[in-house]
Amino acid sequence: MATNLETATPPASGAQSNLQELAKKHLWMHFTRMGAYADHEVPIIVRGEGSYVWDEHGKRYLDGLSALFCVNAGHGRAELGEAAAEQAKELGFYTNWSYAHPPAIELAARVASLAPEGMERVFFTSGGSEAVETALKLCRNWHRLNGDGQRIKVIAREVAYHGTTLGALSATGIPGLRSVFEPLTPGGCHVPNTNSFRWPADRDPLWAADQIEQRILFEGPETVSCVILEPVQNAGGCFAPPEGYWQRVREICDRYGVLLISDEVICSWGRLGHYFGAQRYDYSPDIITTAKGLTSAYAPMGALIASDKVADPFMEGTTMFAHGITFGGHPLASAIALANLDIFEREDLCGHVREKEPELQGMLEGLHRDLEIVGDVRGAGYFWALELVKDRDTKESFTHEESETLLRGFLSGALYEHGLICRADDRGDPVIQLCPPLIADTPEFEYIDRVLRDVLTEAWDKIVRH
Ligand SMILES: Cc1ncc(COP(=O)(O)O)c(C=O)c1O
Repeated sequence: MATNLETATPPASGAQSNLQELAKKHLWMHFTRMGAYADHEVPIIVRGEGSYVWDEHGKRYLDGLSALFCVNAGHGRAELGEAAAEQAKELGFYTNWSYAHPPAIELAARVASLAPEGMERVFFTSGGSEAVETALKLCRNWHRLNGDGQRIKVIAREVAYHGTTLGALSATGIPGLRSVFEPLTPGGCHVPNTNSFRWPADRDPLWAADQIEQRILFEGPETVSCVILEPVQNAGGCFAPPEGYWQRVREICDRYGVLLISDEVICSWGRLGHYFGAQRYDYSPDIITTAKGLTSAYAPMGALIASDKVADPFMEGTTMFAHGITFGGHPLASAIALANLDIFEREDLCGHVREKEPELQGMLEGLHRDLEIVGDVRGAGYFWALELVKDRDTKESFTHEESETLLRGFLSGALYEHGLICRADDRGDPVIQLCPPLIADTPEFEYIDRVLRDVLTEAWDKIVRH
């Protein structure tokens, strides 16, 4: 299946600005069919304020994707830049390789104070893939210290996205992203996710958790290093865990000596109404990986948070985790993260999400009730997906070609033209994903409702029923 995620078919071009020319000539955009821009404009976003951004023509959009699940505190927070400027005057850069500096120390302590109990040690990276890569290496190293060097396998879920570096990619469960880069780092194994939309009615809700145990037994527990899962799986469309799922997975990991990584690159920093997804679903991972909302993306930064069980053996004698990234814990990024967390506290962004979640969910369920193309609504917090179907009664999905026509040929462009940035994605079945900044409120929900109603009705009339 094609894997172009972000842009699909952009609006037809108007007058070409200098930026357009330069972008087309020099900028290599990520996960983007660059050829699509031969006769279309590159969408160039120049400004942001609150939940909204503006393009180079001055047109306003509701950022229903928080700039790729990132800008949790919203756009236009000058104080985050000011925190960086203050830090630059003091110390623009020093590394965490054998040295420490105040912002990284303070941030590590702050993150540890917000993390689930018993997770006290923070290793900074430059982003999410690096955090996952770090976690996979740490798990192998930890097992080796315990005399279990043969434990190298990683169990992840089908259709899950855990990043693009070769190690993280072995955990990513999207064939279209993997196949052209093979061979990947060995050991990646995939099990069913918690997308229960088409499950038989009598299936045990914890079936997907038990599949993890089956896979561990199949591989041989003595070869399995870790299980990596998101609290709510993003790719495929916001698969929330059934009640008891995480507790069952925790039991299984403990039974076979396997480490449990909660990949919270999206699901931390208020996205699910708590600082961490593990807190919302009440489980204790061995490692948390995070990025994006840690700085609300005002600077690139990721982190691995280790439980005492995992970190302690590395804190003794001559033992060292032989891994590092020059910019991990960058002082400007750390200063921004600290200022970002000040905003979280001052404005109680987690509390706001918890309070408003039912309203956002209710609005999306209204679309499900009223629009035949909407087959399912799922998610949590400010992280939701609508699955699009051809027939709501039979749950029939679209063929690959139909999905291509619907998502790339129509929806992506139409939503953007109507002033809503969200994700029309078909890495699993076709979905529209919404992930607004955590400051979004009733007016933003009404805006999303209006645009989705218009555009999805048009899609049904023109593309599906046609
Ligand atoms: C769950 C998860 N893990 C890892 C990553 C990779 O993060 P990055 O793009 O910062 O490398 C992502 C990115 O979206 C993600 O959602």
